[in-house]
Amino acid sequence: MNIRRALPLDAEELARVESTRPQAAGWGGKGFAGEIPQACSCVWCACEEKEIIGFLALRAAAGFAEILNVAVLPAWAKKGVGFALLSHTLKDLKKQGPYKVSLEVAQDNLPAQGLYTKAGFAKLGVRKDFYGPGKDALIMGINI
Ligand SMILES: CC(C)(COP(=O)(O)OP(=O)(O)OC[C@H]1O[C@@H](n2cnc3c(N)ncnc32)[C@H](O)[C@@H]1OP(=O)(O)O)[C@@H](O)C(=O)NCCC(=O)NCCS
Repeated sequence: MNIRRALPLDAEELARVESTRPQAAGWGGKGFAGEIPQACSCVWCACEEKEIIGFLALRAAAGFAEILNVAVLPAWAKKGVGFALLSHTLKDLKKQGPYKVSLEVAQDNLPAQGLYTKAGFAKLGVRKDFYGPGKDALIMGINI
């Protein structure tokens, strides 16, 4: 597996990976195509051979970063791909200086919470009804 930055021509393949995971952000091809060229945005792809098997998208500026969208293909789940993407992202950000990194994750999304906790993120708070009535989000964060 290797990890590289996404290019605009990856947008449709990223959307196919995203579509396998209802918990992902649901950007679709147009969303990825708009996001990838943004100066403050970075979309990392995990690739096996030439296939994209997972991605992590974040925006970072002026010492603050937010993780916006993450997914790993179900066939590659629980094999360390998500952790490799997150570790790579944090290492890359750290090279640019200190950052406060945060994200929202559904309160019932225990796999994703496990991933972030394993990488050192802590729970910072709760956003009530963030994903709809009765569907709260946890805010998680890490200072690197
Ligand atoms: C969250 C997600 C990206 C994790 O990717 P992954 O490659 O399967 O994760 P890893 O194999 O690197 O696992 C890292 C840690 O995450 C946690 N984890 C991953 N899958 C899990 C599961 N099914 N149940 C419980 N914990 C899980 C564990 O703590 C794991 O550490 P461990 O292997 O030492 O137990 C993946 O489950 C996914 O795509 N989920 C749907 C999309 C999503 O939820 N995105 C995040 C929205 S905020």
